[in-house]
Amino acid sequence: MATTSQTWSPASWRERPALQQPDWPDPARTEQVVERLSGLPPLVFAGEARQLQESLAAVAGGRAFLLQAGDCAESFHDFSAISIREKLKIMLQMAAVLTYGSMLPVVKLGRIAGQFSKPRSATTETVDGAEIPTFRGHMVHGDEPTAAARRYDPERMLQGYHQSAATLNLLRAFTKGGFADLTKVHLWNQEFVASAPEGRRYELIATEIERALRFMAACGIDLQAERQLHEVDVWTSHEALLLDYEQGLTRRDSLTGDWYDCSAHMLWVGERTRSPGGAHVEFLGGVHNPLGVKLGPTATAAEVIALCDALNPRRIPGRLTLISRMGVDRVGEGLPPLLRAVAQAEHPVVWVCDPMHGNVIRTGSGYKTRRFEDIMGELRGFFAACHEAGAWPGGVHLEFTGDHVTECLGGSEEVLEEQLNVNYMTLCDPRLNARQSLDLAFQVAELMRAADESR
Ligand code: PEP
Ligand code: CO
Repeated sequence: MATTSQTWSPASWRERPALQQPDWPDPARTEQVVERLSGLPPLVFAGEARQLQESLAAVAGGRAFLLQAGDCAESFHDFSAISIREKLKIMLQMAAVLTYGSMLPVVKLGRIAGQFSKPRSATTETVDGAEIPTFRGHMVHGDEPTAAARRYDPERMLQGYHQSAATLNLLRAFTKGGFADLTKVHLWNQEFVASAPEGRRYELIATEIERALRFMAACGIDLQAERQLHEVDVWTSHEALLLDYEQGLTRRDSLTGDWYDCSAHMLWVGERTRSPGGAHVEFLGGVHNPLGVKLGPTATAAEVIALCDALNPRRIPGRLTLISRMGVDRVGEGLPPLLRAVAQAEHPVVWVCDPMHGNVIRTGSGYKTRRFEDIMGELRGFFAACHEAGAWPGGVHLEFTGDHVTECLGGSEEVLEEQLNVNYMTLCDPRLNARQSLDLAFQVAELMRAADESR
């Protein structure tokens, strides 16, 4: 069965095989938590999800780019105004570089305010001779490697909800309350970045933007009156993995009568749970938010078309984003057949490259890492494949942090293998640090400009 059921409800996913769900110890308690979530205020509004879908329709039509980025897994411990602000800063900086470089609008979408649960390849791991469940995210259990911490606890979904609400509240304040004002473009450069080559390159762009604003003011344009110069939209997204949580936050929109998953503006289904007959596709098929699907190297053209038909049967532009995450070695052969099949089926999708999840390696000393060069290599392969197929390379999907971590190798900063232990902080996958993110943004801006000029 490849399509969403005729009798869809927020709970109809329960009739399908649901992979990657925690084995909650007490189903009755889990049910109570879902019930409580159902009574809490929505985190986002249906109208906002529709606005994002309109912006994504512009990306699908080749008139804008998407920057989707944030943590691999958000943490209950690393939760402060500073860490949210630093993530927002690097997002705004990257968006400024991409917009200035491509001269096209950039849709900003965070992996934030809900990215608390993780799919895992193995169910258990052995630590000091004991077999314990692998870490599945703070919405499910603790990360400490002990059997007690890794006990599944559904109450954590409520904590995840409250942290998401507080995160969103601050994001809204920062993005609408002056911090994201384009006249503050210099302020987004962090001290440790500003003195580095990519930081200085950013300063040049920031100065140019300021000069452009002064030029417009000198021409008599009332800059104060232009809302777009003083506020930005930063939308939220996460993997819709933990279906109890997503069900609990699903509401019927009073304006249209349609169902929306009000846990985030956009939801995506991961590489491990995207089976067209599975619970995740069933759930997402019934909510009206814009959706994403991760596509790894095993994805076949037939599967991708089945997913497009299930998730976007009415072929609405902006509804569906396909996120290719093939790996640097496989993008060249894996992506073109998918691009061709989707074009042939006339599905109006946004094509995005996630150059992170197909490029994980382990060092001799056991660190999970990614090479900056592999990440850039996959991005170049993605842009080349899109160009060849006549598809618009709609954007990038990244894991980054505003902190000065040492989790990915290379970049202009040249993080070396023996330096990974200096500041390796991630709860799950290795993230680009602020300098590597900015470095990447400059290179992607060049790819975007070339894509725009060559069509
Ligand atoms: C992720 O985006 O964090 C993730 C687990 O990705 P994927 O489903 O592509 O492996
Ligand atoms: Co990840």
